[in-house]
Amino acid sequence: MAEILAVLPKIQDPNLLVGFEKSSDAAVYQLTKDLALVFTVDFFTPIVDDPYWFGQIAAANSLSDVYAMGGRPLLALNIVCFPKKELDKGILKEILRGGLQKVLEAQAVLGGGHSIDDREIKYGLSVVGTVHPKRYITNAGARPGDRLFLTKPLGLGIITTAIKGNMASDSLIRRAMEIMAQLNQKAAEAMVEIGAHAATDITGFGLLGHALEMAEASGVELHILAHKVPFIKEALDLVKMGLVPEGDYENLRFCEKKIKVEGNIDESLLTIFYDAQTSGGLLISVPEEKARSFWEKLLEKGVFEAAEIGFVRKGPARVVVS
Ligand code: CO
Ligand code: CO
Repeated sequence: MAEILAVLPKIQDPNLLVGFEKSSDAAVYQLTKDLALVFTVDFFTPIVDDPYWFGQIAAANSLSDVYAMGGRPLLALNIVCFPKKELDKGILKEILRGGLQKVLEAQAVLGGGHSIDDREIKYGLSVVGTVHPKRYITNAGARPGDRLFLTKPLGLGIITTAIKGNMASDSLIRRAMEIMAQLNQKAAEAMVEIGAHAATDITGFGLLGHALEMAEASGVELHILAHKVPFIKEALDLVKMGLVPEGDYENLRFCEKKIKVEGNIDESLLTIFYDAQTSGGLLISVPEEKARSFWEKLLEKGVFEAAEIGFVRKGPARVVVS
């Protein structure tokens, strides 16, 4: 997308603090001295069979880009594609009910939306949030010495692929749905309170893809300690059985050259680090001296699956995994 937009005339508006040029999560537009708006939009096709859960997951995913920038969601609008003639409207009702629940949980307001007739179901939100124009967080602020945190376990892409192939148990489906439907709200609160240097949410490019974006945007080397990265155990079993989503190979091909693997790391585990996530957690770069209190804050707020996964060093813009 960034390459396609790059050929269009550059937008020059001093109030557009963050646009599309920096592979950031959302756009930030300054209104007054101490108020900026955060804008984002996201929608996709069902990844789980249950419409109510799908609605929750799609909404949590859409809200996530506002959280990733340290913003607070204010207003959301539904984006709906639905085969009105072929499918029971009750399904759509359940999707929207799931979405609304997440908007309410985010303490935002649902202001309406737009729907069109389409062959395939698609759902998501456009979200407007608020942030202080001097205190928004991007993926460009990581500094040498920082500690890196990941707030949700990986493996969600592998599991949703397994769901489509009827290879996931009910309990595994349930666990993945709960993780994906979880808002990044609490993790974002903690990072804003502590004064994190940088953040991004882990979605389509996987942990290593998004870590590389952060390394390049910040001009630093990110060092990830493989044994500290949280992941869903069953996802590793599925990879070992040969289940690897096509997108994960693409992620590997795309950023492999700038990822340096040191020592003997299990191939299957590396696949999980490349795995495209839906509504994944935040990757947060925190000043070293605040790492301990940040960790305590995460626990206080109930972000129990978060982990410290590495650190930031001076060096070429790349990611080292060891
Ligand atoms: Co994002
Ligand atoms: Co997004």
